[in-house]
Amino acid sequence: MLINKVILGDCLTELKNFNEKTFQLIIADPPYFQVLLEEEWDNQWKSEEDYLDWSIKWIKECRRVLKDDGLLYIFGQLGKREHVWLHLTSRAANVMQFHDMIIWDRAVGYNERGDSFTPCYEMILMLRKNEKEKPYFNKDSVRIPYDDETIKSYLNDKRYKDKTARLEHLQKGKYATNILRVPSLKGSSKEKAGHPSQKPIRLIEYLILSSSRENDIILDPFMGSGTTAVVSEINNRKWVGIEINPLYVKMADERLKEIRFFPEFPLYDINH
Ligand SMILES: C[S@@+](CC[C@H](N)C(=O)[O-])C[C@H]1O[C@@H](n2cnc3c(N)ncnc32)[C@H](O)[C@@H]1O
Repeated sequence: MLINKVILGDCLTELKNFNEKTFQLIIADPPYFQVLLEEEWDNQWKSEEDYLDWSIKWIKECRRVLKDDGLLYIFGQLGKREHVWLHLTSRAANVMQFHDMIIWDRAVGYNERGDSFTPCYEMILMLRKNEKEKPYFNKDSVRIPYDDETIKSYLNDKRYKDKTARLEHLQKGKYATNILRVPSLKGSSKEKAGHPSQKPIRLIEYLILSSSRENDIILDPFMGSGTTAVVSEINNRKWVGIEINPLYVKMADERLKEIRFFPEFPLYDINH
């Protein structure tokens, strides 16, 4: 199997080439179905039903190649065609075991609509292989540091007598919740490579750090601009990507070249 490579191809065909139980973690950011109207890849299906049938096919293949204690994350867009995503989540939960639903709080609203609040989040469905197998998940690897002010005020809490132990505890930071606040990428963001639905490095980092160990193999069946590959390499994970569009394969390869040659320069905006 080719490791640390983006395979140019259709994920349904390519997934069949992997042995079962190969990947610890699968991050799937599939076409949404007619949300990005100007993108050919988001408009490949005649109907919602076709799209849902296709989705269940690749989800079943992902289940096959996932390790027993692995996790599959699937991104879903709410906004214009929310009902498709709702059907997809419900059908996916019949194929695999529902584990959690993460809210990606994009911090800035998108898709202005007059008849409701401005949409500001996307969802990430978290599935595991079956009910009895506990997935690998490391909460400590995704703690969020408290700022100095908060630490100072929490240290004043009179319930805690041992201030040293309390300080040690606070310095570890708090656990990340299942609402992940990571600003979506602006056109001017340092890490923006040119893909219309490129995900922020910080967001993918939460998934990879919590749900895999060093040297585990991670699969991204819809690789796009290569965000999963970039984050995997920075964090010493192995990865495999599949992408149907040769322009995006090239884009991902370029991003990877950059981090391999200049690992000391962060590719993302520090303030994210
Ligand atoms: C939502 S984007 C992924 C963006 C990616 N997460 C990033 O950060 O750049 C979905 C990608 O899936 C690709 N795609 C669409 N159909 C595919 C298929 N059948 N097999 C593999 N890739 C496909 C599209 O070309 C597009 O780049």
